[in-house]
Amino acid sequence: MNTESTMQFAFSLIATPTPHDQIVASIANPVFGRVFTDHMATVRWTSALGWHDAKIEARRPFQIDPACAVLHYAQEIFEGMKAYRGEDNSVSLFRPFENAKRFRASAERMSMAELPDALFVGAVESLVKVDRDWVPGGDGSLYLRPFMFATETFLGVRASSEYLFCVIASPVGPYFKAGKTAVTVWVSDRYTRAALGGTGAAKCGGNYAAGLSAQTEASANGCDQVVFLDAAEHKWIEELGGMNVFFVMDDGSLRTPPLSGTILPGITRASIIELAKREGIVVSEEPYAFETWQADAISGRVREAFACGTAAVVTAIGAVRHAAGEFTIGDGGEGPVTQRIRATLTGIQRGKIADPFGWIHHVA
Ligand code: PLP
Ligand code: COI
Repeated sequence: MNTESTMQFAFSLIATPTPHDQIVASIANPVFGRVFTDHMATVRWTSALGWHDAKIEARRPFQIDPACAVLHYAQEIFEGMKAYRGEDNSVSLFRPFENAKRFRASAERMSMAELPDALFVGAVESLVKVDRDWVPGGDGSLYLRPFMFATETFLGVRASSEYLFCVIASPVGPYFKAGKTAVTVWVSDRYTRAALGGTGAAKCGGNYAAGLSAQTEASANGCDQVVFLDAAEHKWIEELGGMNVFFVMDDGSLRTPPLSGTILPGITRASIIELAKREGIVVSEEPYAFETWQADAISGRVREAFACGTAAVVTAIGAVRHAAGEFTIGDGGEGPVTQRIRATLTGIQRGKIADPFGWIHHVA
């Protein structure tokens, strides 16, 4: 464990890196997840050797056998985190050890090898250092995608005896269309995301694959995201396809669904709860029924609602659509509480506001 945690990365850097002016052009207005940096970090695990072969190398396609376990039984997990460039040109990560911890929890749920936290953060940091020029300034950021998949060539159904951990990086702007101040969400009466005892709290690719039909239904109805209700009663609000959700009540309190085991424990969600509590705002983590949300939005008891996550940051929910109708939240735009929470969180992440929590992790 100790040797694995302090494992050094071997560097074989790209022979002809992207020229600086081309990097500047590609990070100016990137679409989410389309542009990638020059390098990637990889670490391998086998049952015989444990974690080994840590490398930073040129980003390149993998060569895998058609019988590679992940292609058949989907043993795959991932994380989403960002590197930010401050006004003083420093580069930092936001709570990277929280991502490392969640990655281990996802690995445990999916019967995969658990990567030591120091190795996870070391891989991310090493990649950010090498591809530092790709970290956009301003409102942009470098989205980091650590992931791991089963690499054993074997068709028997059991946990793989080999894994590949990898980190890639992508300069990004807003997840939703630039300039969009509030999104419209779709509440599906056909699909659910996760049931108790399932994998809802793990960040595994299969959860997103299973959510795509609902996302397609949302898009067909002119919506940006899906709000999933619980699988047992189809009554309680859980989360969005790729974000957690908060409600701002008329007494100034915040409300968010509890970590019931079926939703992803978002790091943005946890940070907003801590931020709000520090400001004296009451936060309740209690189940909230979709029907109550509709009634509260109409009566004005719910003033605002927002989605939150690494990719989405803090994004207002302006309207809610479902098979039987539609309702608006507040005036349909971004409300003042959502705006303030977004400004405080992004201010801390970008080093514009002092960080009283020790959340910022500088990359030397
Ligand atoms: N819920 C789901 C399903 C997600 O994919 C994400 C994004 O990672 C979140 C919530 C928010 O998590 P975090 O704030 O850690 O990015
Ligand atoms: C993230 O926010 O990092 C996610 O994984 C969600 C996805 C919508 C990109």
